Amino acid sequence: MAFGHGKVILLGEHSVVHGRPALAVAVPRGAEITVVPAAPKLPATTLHIEPWNVSVDAGPAPNLGREPLQEALRVACGFYDDGRHFALSATVRLPSGAGMGSSAALGVAVLRALDDARGLTRSDDEIYQRSLAWEGVFHGNPSGVDNAMATHGGVGLFTRGSPLTPVVPRHPVRLVAAYSGASSDTKGMVESVARQFERNPEQVGRQFDAIGAIVMNGKLALEQGELRSLGQLMTMNHKLLAGLMLSTAALEEMITAAMEAGALGAKVTGAGGGGCMIALVDSVAQQQAVGDALRKLDKTVYDVESGS
Ligand code: PMV
Repeated sequence: MAFGHGKVILLGEHSVVHGRPALAVAVPRGAEITVVPAAPKLPATTLHIEPWNVSVDAGPAPNLGREPLQEALRVACGFYDDGRHFALSATVRLPSGAGMGSSAALGVAVLRALDDARGLTRSDDEIYQRSLAWEGVFHGNPSGVDNAMATHGGVGLFTRGSPLTPVVPRHPVRLVAAYSGASSDTKGMVESVARQFERNPEQVGRQFDAIGAIVMNGKLALEQGELRSLGQLMTMNHKLLAGLMLSTAALEEMITAAMEAGALGAKVTGAGGGGCMIALVDSVAQQQAVGDALRKLDKTVYDVESGS
């Protein structure tokens, strides 16, 4: 079984594309792939994704309506020149287009499965590098944070172009993630922030720097077990992200509900413009209360706990 983790970004999305650090937590759910014993003479590698009921192949004829996924699979298969083909069956336990890293998790799992099927072992760093090419098909200019988390799991500080630095939180990180109901267009949101930066490099650059400082303080707060400070940093980060037009009315309503239910801090997570928000909590009872408040708004809730 080949696996790639999902993730939530605790602090630092978007500014991470522009060279500032980000802090992320892998979620135990992700993408799992089994290699189906191949029918003889399969003309191309195939990928079936169970919960979405989607199938693509890496052959030359276009899979209409599924071109980006087909292209990503071709990119993954392009790393091998042995002419061997496999049937891959994936189960993705993450919402798609929701900021929880489903495409990077799937890419890492596909790359690991293609190696496993050939009896090859590759280092996590090589899988990470290869998965950037997969992610680039969907996101154009990925920082790599999703891929690093999908590959390594755990809690990590990520800066573009550098290896992931594992972070050891003093206490487990307990979060409530909830889906706004609207999908998030990572490529479009990353382009929108890039346009704002181009138009106003000084001001937007200062916003990125402020987020970078929040991230470094957040790392310390995690390591020292200062969850209240971490919560405040998350809320500050959200305000800066909202200033970059990445929040929505639904996300704001969810963040308010989470805070009123006792969360220590809350923010949009991932690309924004839809997708998910996260709220930091410090007990199972608080996780339940915040989850209930979000379910009352008819939202799908995911409990996340990681690091110790
Ligand atoms: O794919 P998402 O929605 O989890 O967003 C990834 C985080 C961004 O910073 C918005 C993009 C990136 O490549 O880092």
